[in-house]
Amino acid sequence: MQDKIINFKVMGDQRGSLIALEENHNVPFDVKRVFYIYGTQGNITRGNHSHYQTKQLLITINGGCQVTLDDGKGNKETYTLNKPNVGILQDELVWGSMHNFSHDCVLMVLADSYYDDKDYIRDYDTFLKAVK
Ligand code: TYD
Repeated sequence: MQDKIINFKVMGDQRGSLIALEENHNVPFDVKRVFYIYGTQGNITRGNHSHYQTKQLLITINGGCQVTLDDGKGNKETYTLNKPNVGILQDELVWGSMHNFSHDCVLMVLADSYYDDKDYIRDYDTFLKAVK
């Protein structure tokens, strides 16, 4: 799979650190929605779906988790996210799951679409057919 990692510039000084996210600059799409996941137990897997249209950018702004991306064409990779200055891009028609959450993990997700249940592919075989 081509590199999905995005490194954000940290603007830090003696007061601490700051990262700015801007649509179509360091976020490679129009941002329609932001949601965040927190309070997830370490033994829980979330996600386990793909989207027909939606692109997402995942950033652990606190703590960490692992993200597995699978393009349905034989490319499957697990990434460790544990820095607030690193994001992973999940393109449309990529199957994604998040697991191994630290107790303090806050996973922020930026998306280029409004929430629409019809955009979800929750069945893996349906996903494989959609990829073809
Ligand atoms: P869900 O898709 O199950 O989360 P995950 O993919 O992390 O396992 O979403 C949980 C609930 O939140 C579900 O009822 C749908 C709702 N939801 C929204 O209303 N808006 C959103 O943007 C998202 C991502 C979920």
